[in-house]
Amino acid sequence: MQVIDLKLTHTNYNIYLQQGILGKIADMLPDVFSGSKIAIITDSNVSELYLSELSCQLAQKYLVVEIVVPAGEESKRLEVAADIYNKLSAARISRSDLIVALGGGVVGDLAGFVAATYMRGIPFVQIPTSLLAQVDSSIGGKVAVDIPSGKNLVGAFYQPKAVYIDPNVLNTLTDRFYYDGLAEVIKYACIKDAALFEILKQLGSREQIQSQIQEIVLRCLNTKKHYVQLDEFDTGERMFLNYGHTIGHAVEKYFDFTSYTHGECVAMGMAHITKQSEALGLTDSGVSQKLQQLLIQYRLPYHLPESGEEFISALLRAVAVDKKNLNKKLNLVLIKDIGESFLHRIDSSDMHKFI
Ligand code: GLY
Repeated sequence: MQVIDLKLTHTNYNIYLQQGILGKIADMLPDVFSGSKIAIITDSNVSELYLSELSCQLAQKYLVVEIVVPAGEESKRLEVAADIYNKLSAARISRSDLIVALGGGVVGDLAGFVAATYMRGIPFVQIPTSLLAQVDSSIGGKVAVDIPSGKNLVGAFYQPKAVYIDPNVLNTLTDRFYYDGLAEVIKYACIKDAALFEILKQLGSREQIQSQIQEIVLRCLNTKKHYVQLDEFDTGERMFLNYGHTIGHAVEKYFDFTSYTHGECVAMGMAHITKQSEALGLTDSGVSQKLQQLLIQYRLPYHLPESGEEFISALLRAVAVDKKNLNKKLNLVLIKDIGESFLHRIDSSDMHKFI
């Protein structure tokens, strides 16, 4: 088992990575939890696959409450959180109890948000079941819900007590969502891990990737740990994790979060901004081509879906209201070479040069 320890300002916790760890959660929880009641929050897809297994296992030791929300981003809403608060309250869950978030990014963000706010905060642990959640969203304590004016606009930094990552559960993902997570893996390779980029280049099929997945996830976790420890509250270095996300988020928003997955939009964002920064002489020549080749190899989109004036204006408007746009300044994450990233501060009015 790999154990990655995260040391933060007010708390430390471990991320445990092992194939089959899902079957050992009841044995591992006593390290971080000494209470008697657990609420498992999951979604309608994941519940079909893993809820009864986990629930039966935990029921040997604890009183277990199951809360299942509909699968999909639509569940990341205050109304759904309110419904969960009522269920927790009806089950008399208190601050000495535990929330287990079992699912992908939506479940992790929503259950974490509920944990941060119910009774002014109760402990929670993450069991991420998508690749995107395993390498990114379950780590570092960003929890949130969406409101009509934007994604993740209401939330907190609220760290879990532990994260348990079982790469075996990735086998039940559809190809589309497996490769969606690989976009974030490619992000880590581009910003800080040229060796990971080389490993990814050697792999072709999903089977080959899955045979190396523990090493791949571990490398991503170490990079995430590096940035989160440096900048837990996202005011500086943690911004490097947003490579590809400024344009990616704008594309996601333009299509109302329906046509493309998050990873697909990040892939387009990374490819586009790198092509533009190479044209502006900020990125070494040939780097955007290397990135494009890897994105193609990983079945990810590598250019914007439209190029018309109306589309570009919509992207610029979306970037202008992005929460990372502070006082009309934007910190763009660019790469000089694969594995070598830097922040490039621009006036928001200059964003058109990068779109
Ligand atoms: N997903 C980016 C971050 O955790 O900061």
